[in-house]
Amino acid sequence: MCGIVGYVGHRDAADFLLEGLHRLEYRGYDSAGVAVVEGKQVSVRKRVGRVNELAQLLEGSPVRGHIGIGHTRWATHGETNDANSHPHVGGNGEVILVHNGVIENYTSLRTQLQGLGYVFRTGTDTEVIAHLVALHLDEQIKLGEEADDPQTCLKAVELSLRKLKGTYGLAILFERHPEMIIAARNGSPMVVGIGKDEHFVASDASPLIGYTEEVVYLADHEMAILTPGSFELMHRDTGRMSPSVQSLEQVSTDIELGDFEHYMLKEIFEQPQTIENAMRGRFDEDEATAKFGGLNLTPQQLRRVDRIVLTACGTSWHAGLVGEYLLEEFARIPVEVEYASELRYRNPPLTDRTMVFAITQSGETADTLAAMRECKRKGLSTLAICNVVGSSIAREADGGIYLHAGPEIGVASTKAFTSQVTALVMLSLFLGRMRHLSYQAGKRIIRSLKAMPETIAKTLECHDQVQEVASRYWNLENFLYLGRLYNFPVALEGALKLKEISYIHAEGYPAAEMKHGPIALIEERTPSVFIVPRGGIYPKVISNMEEVRARKGPIIAIACEDDEKVAELADEVICVPEVEEHLQPLVTSIPLQLLAYHVALLRGCNVDRPRNLAKSVTVE
Ligand code: F6R
Repeated sequence: MCGIVGYVGHRDAADFLLEGLHRLEYRGYDSAGVAVVEGKQVSVRKRVGRVNELAQLLEGSPVRGHIGIGHTRWATHGETNDANSHPHVGGNGEVILVHNGVIENYTSLRTQLQGLGYVFRTGTDTEVIAHLVALHLDEQIKLGEEADDPQTCLKAVELSLRKLKGTYGLAILFERHPEMIIAARNGSPMVVGIGKDEHFVASDASPLIGYTEEVVYLADHEMAILTPGSFELMHRDTGRMSPSVQSLEQVSTDIELGDFEHYMLKEIFEQPQTIENAMRGRFDEDEATAKFGGLNLTPQQLRRVDRIVLTACGTSWHAGLVGEYLLEEFARIPVEVEYASELRYRNPPLTDRTMVFAITQSGETADTLAAMRECKRKGLSTLAICNVVGSSIAREADGGIYLHAGPEIGVASTKAFTSQVTALVMLSLFLGRMRHLSYQAGKRIIRSLKAMPETIAKTLECHDQVQEVASRYWNLENFLYLGRLYNFPVALEGALKLKEISYIHAEGYPAAEMKHGPIALIEERTPSVFIVPRGGIYPKVISNMEEVRARKGPIIAIACEDDEKVAELADEVICVPEVEEHLQPLVTSIPLQLLAYHVALLRGCNVDRPRNLAKSVTVE
């Protein structure tokens, strides 16, 4: 989940690389580095810490040139220190590279290379790739290949990649061919940007925005050979290929902070718009249903479906839990929600009537991609609910639903969650209307969905109130989040938001399960956040609140306006608009996002770049 960027052309490479690394920093921020071709030599600058630290280093010790590679690291193998930062150098400096991914057989390769006299200076798995390429380069030359022929470098890379087990996105520079970058991919995303007399490469398209509109996404086992004036695409097994050029539609303002202090806050406030975008053009009012252009399944195929598996990780998995309740209620199809990391190694009974949806913001999560591939291998229809156009999961799925939420930069997912839930409401409506759901029910669901952007804008008015609540609780160390039915996944999501950005221990539970264990935690310094809007089993949740109250546990309640019963029981009430039960997660998740944000801020945490985390988890 590290970030890679590379440039060959006429611009100042260091400027482009630094800007690109800033945009990619959400992928990892343990350390950062660049290698830039300066005349006949390649200069490396790298430093532990964020990209700003690297920028400072470059101010004092600049590198000037028009070709270079850069990296922002999320450590997997080897601690975070200057030596382990990328770029890494192979042989005696002939090969310089940056890597995203994990090399599983690095220990045995390292031993072999050490036996051949290669000296390792880092604790990373990446260094074996650098030495391996240097070794093959040396061998090719000894076999009589021309040292000055770029094809010799390509051959050395190809031979090295065949020896690697694991995943990689790579950008490689060669001391003898400083006009060229070779990029390669297996399991870790890489995209090439095409410009006029210049080429770009990156782990995702964000560094390319504003520089080019034409991109080529590399597939596994593909390599790109880039010089300022040329771009060749090769496949490991089939040789030269013609690239499929796509247009990059994002606009650069999507990745600017604007007036907001943090991306997370910006993204929370974008939700009226992002929810609207997830619905745009997808209503069929005459038939009181939804429509999706991208599912690529006929109505007959869709009617045959007798089971749905939703697979995802983290926040997207929580959206999947909401989806389970929705799909079972509206479409009466049995649904299972599987952690992708488990599903990829399990062998559950799946039939040709099972439909699999991978839910993912980034479209690059390694476990989700692997689970999807495993289901595909078994011949199932695999679809995706995904935000990032052109991502690996989006490209490999048989069809799916794009969220159109725009880039989500804050590491803690917010707007993608509500967009995923919106897409799942619409999918449930669509499948429901093919089965048991009445025309009137369909109409009602559409009506409430259409009102949702306005309802969310109104929900966001709780911001000041949440800020005040945060100021009274920010210094506690344990929180419980409790909700039932549609608000149980919201409790899980609220707890995840708090722990990941404020480092407070938080657990989400179905409110009634509390008495089977977690109630033992209740005491004066352990607040319970109850998600208790009016609806189905509201009185039962009130009883659960009484149980906490009786044990002197502080209560923060997310409740509908004018709820006197809740006001009597809770220490704090954060009000949200009243909506139908199945839409409650869209509304109730918002104050919880804001609560996590303000608590983290008061604790002095970096809300957009929490420790140990990265935005897309492209390693297993
Ligand atoms: C939490 C968060 C993560 C992601 C998870 C899956 O705020 O963002 O839990 O939800 O890593 O990522 P995607 O949705 O990109 O597959």
